[in-house]
Parts: sequence; structure tokens; C-alpha cells
Amino acid sequence: MSEKAELKVGDQTFELPIIEGTENEKAIDISKLRASSGLITIDPGFKNTGSTTSAITFLNGEQGILRYRGYAIEDLAEKASFLEVTYLLIYGELPNKEQYNKFTQEITHHTLIHEDIKNILDGFPSNSHPMGVLSSLVSSLTAFYPESLDPNRSSDEVDLSIKRLIAKMPTMAAWAYKNEIGHPANYPDNSLDYCSNFLKMMFAVPSAEYEVDPVIANALDKLLILHADHEQNCSTSTVRVVGSSHASLYASISAGISALWGPLHGGANQAVIEMLEAIKADGGDVAKYMAKAKDKNDPFRLMGFGHRVYKNFDPRAKIIKKAADDVLDKLGINDPILEIAKGLEEVALKDDYFVERKLYPNVDFYSGIIYRAIGIPTSMFTVMFALGRLPGWIAQWKEMRANNEPIGRPRQVYTGSNLTSFKSLDQR
Ligand code: ACO
Repeated sequence: MSEKAELKVGDQTFELPIIEGTENEKAIDISKLRASSGLITIDPGFKNTGSTTSAITFLNGEQGILRYRGYAIEDLAEKASFLEVTYLLIYGELPNKEQYNKFTQEITHHTLIHEDIKNILDGFPSNSHPMGVLSSLVSSLTAFYPESLDPNRSSDEVDLSIKRLIAKMPTMAAWAYKNEIGHPANYPDNSLDYCSNFLKMMFAVPSAEYEVDPVIANALDKLLILHADHEQNCSTSTVRVVGSSHASLYASISAGISALWGPLHGGANQAVIEMLEAIKADGGDVAKYMAKAKDKNDPFRLMGFGHRVYKNFDPRAKIIKKAADDVLDKLGINDPILEIAKGLEEVALKDDYFVERKLYPNVDFYSGIIYRAIGIPTSMFTVMFALGRLPGWIAQWKEMRANNEPIGRPRQVYTGSNLTSFKSLDQR
């Protein structure tokens, strides 16, 4: 007989099934608790609530483990390309050579976007934050591919929508940046690989030749792999919940981009650099900002520190820290804010406040430093994160659809007024 939990409320006992995952993680299944007891569970921020079972990403925050489809993030970051990882996440296994070549060709084939999307882009004021532009452009794809509106279409049609999105996302991301700085957009160069093409669209200007530096393209490829999935985080849960209403793939991903935007999630890498710059402008006093971070009356938080699930170390941070050192070394960059970053890291890792709360540098503490070194402007950092997270969002959306999951609709405990008699305007 499978294991069960017992919940005692007053003199009543309720039996609850226990679900076990392939890595022996256990969960109490409370889905039928309300029907038998009238009780719901409450867990603001879903800190201890599983919303689904999933076969995509395994993460153990205590031991600092991250695997996509069973493969260690360390192996994938070192040995695979971003498009291989994209295939792995979405289709469940690593591609063989033939599958990989076909997939790469298909993605390359769809990089161009409809000229009318450019008209939409032109409607945004320059200076618009590229995350807002990207989210809008992704949503606008529903208008250009109306067949994508119905997620119940044949798997081939859904697959085409998926490939279009992977192919067009770098074009839309680079164009969002060009719009921000008021420069003409560059069209995709399909002779280049995924990251090199993106870099060229970002940085080429009509007046000069642009050669992609392979050191930069490789660093970018690695960064995208490290961000490719992270199980049920804020933006991924958003994608799954929006998709659970049978909204289209593009609508669901557009919502995920919005969720990623905030500084407590994907916006953290932008916030890290802004924080480091502010500390530099204020004289570079690390101790002052450490004190502010610990002061409960001060809203300042040390951006890039702490993580909802990693309470030991973030395995991505380890890989990326080394990559940051390599890239800065190879490019011969000496950035003064790096000294401030190192100072903060050194002090925080020994400070009781941070040690007791298990607050360690997360992936975004270092990703901003690499992006800055390779010339990506701060306002584009979160867009880079979205580019990396795209395959994870798609894989999770696809899994949610394949499992035929019910619409996401949490409950609440009401704490407002009891029934109140209505008084018309002149009686109030
Ligand atoms: N600086 C100072 N104190 C912090 C920080 C921080 N960066 N992070 C958490 N704390 C403190 C909290 O004040 C709280 O202290 P208390 O127990 O005395 O009240 C304690 O540590 C626990 O913090 P919570 O906010 O409850 O932890 P939670 O798991 O909800 O939040 C989060 C995690 C949002 C990432 C938080 O650590 C944070 O805001 N970090 C800075 C933003 C950041 O880097 N976000 C990127 C996350 S990674 C990603 O999205 C890819």
C-alpha cells in the first residue's frame, strides 16, 4: 500500500495520499482535502506548495543541484550549445546530429519577422523599456499567425508556432533595443549561429563592418543555457497558469516576460549593476551598504543575494563566476564596479546576517557583470534572461498542455467585511 499522511482536525482524521518523485521528493496531495473536510491550505507566495508534477527540471536547493531532463547543468554549460539544450528541454531528449541539424535549419529559416511588426515597433516611443516592447511584440504574433490562437491544434501546427517563437525572439529582442536607442533595426543574418546573429542585430551599425567576437558569442551561449529553465519559478508558473486557461502559446509567453521583468526575479541583474553603480557614485563604501541591507527600517536589499530555493549555493552562480573571470580576462577588461562586487561578496559571505539567513550570491549577481563586459546595455539584461528562459517556458507550457492540467485557480481565506447593508449616495 502506498504511503499516506494523516491530518487531525479536532476529533476528525483525514487521510491524504503522498506522492513521490523520481528523486524521492515527497508531497502530500491535498487536492481532495476541501471536499472531505471543508478546509483549504494557505501558503502565501506558494513557498511550500507544489503546483504540478514535472519531468523537465530537477532542482535541489539544499544541495545546489540543477539538472535539465536528468543532465547536470555543469555538463550542459560546458559541452552543449544553447539550441541543443533548447531541443532537450522541449522534446525531452538530446538531439542526434541529424535532428540537431534539422532543428537548427528550421530555427534559422524563421528568424525574419513580418514588416508590419516593425510598424508596431515604430509606434513605441524611443526610450521604451525593451521588456515592455518584447512582451508586446510576442503577444502581437497572435495577430500574424492566427492559427496559433488555438493551442488544441495538431501537434505539427503547435510545433511550428514554437519554432517561430524561438527563431523570432532574438530578432524582436534586438529590435526592441534598437528602438530604445533610436537606431535603425538590423535584419537577421541567417549565415550565423543563434547567438552570433543576435549580437550582429544588436551591435551592427550601417556605417561600419561588424565582426562577431567568438569569445563573446560563446559567453552568451553559456549564459543562455544557465537561464534556460528553473522549474516552477514566478515567470514559469505565470506561463503555466495563463496557458491553463487555454490561452495561446504567444499570450502565455508574453505574460511570462512581464512576470520576469520585476527586480525580485529577472530584473535582478539590472538591479545589481544599478546598485553597484550607485555604490560607486557614493564613494564605494561597501560597509555602509552592508549596514543598509541589514537594517530592517531601510528598504535597501543587496541585489543578487538570496534565492527562494537555493539555500546553500546557486550552482549556476559557480559556473557563471568562472565564466565571468574568463571573459573579463580574455577581453582584458578592468571594471571598477567589479572591485565593489568582489568586496560585497567577500563581506557578505562572512557576515552573520547573511550566513544565518543562507543568503548567497545568485546567478544574477554575476550575469550582469558578464553582460556589461560584452557590451549589453543594462536595460537589456532582463531581455537576455527572457531569451535564455524561452525554451524552459515553452517546455513547461507544452507539458502543462500534454498533462491536460486544470485551470490554475487558487483559493483564499476571506478577511474583509461581513454582509453590510447598502446605503444610497444621499444616505452616506
Ligand atoms: N538583502 C538583504 N536581506 C535579504 C535579502 C537581500 N538580498 N534577501 C533576503 N533577505 C532577508 C529578508 O529581509 C528576510 O529577513 P528576516 O527573516 O529577518 O525578515 C530573510 O532574508 C528571508 O528573505 P525572504 O524575502 O523571506 O526570502 P524569499 O525566499 O521570499 O526571497 C528573494 C528570495 C526574493 C530572491 C530575496 O532573497 C531577494 O529579494 N533577493 C534580492 C533580489 C534578487 O537577487 N533576486 C534574484 C533572484 S534569482 C532569479 O530570479 C533568477
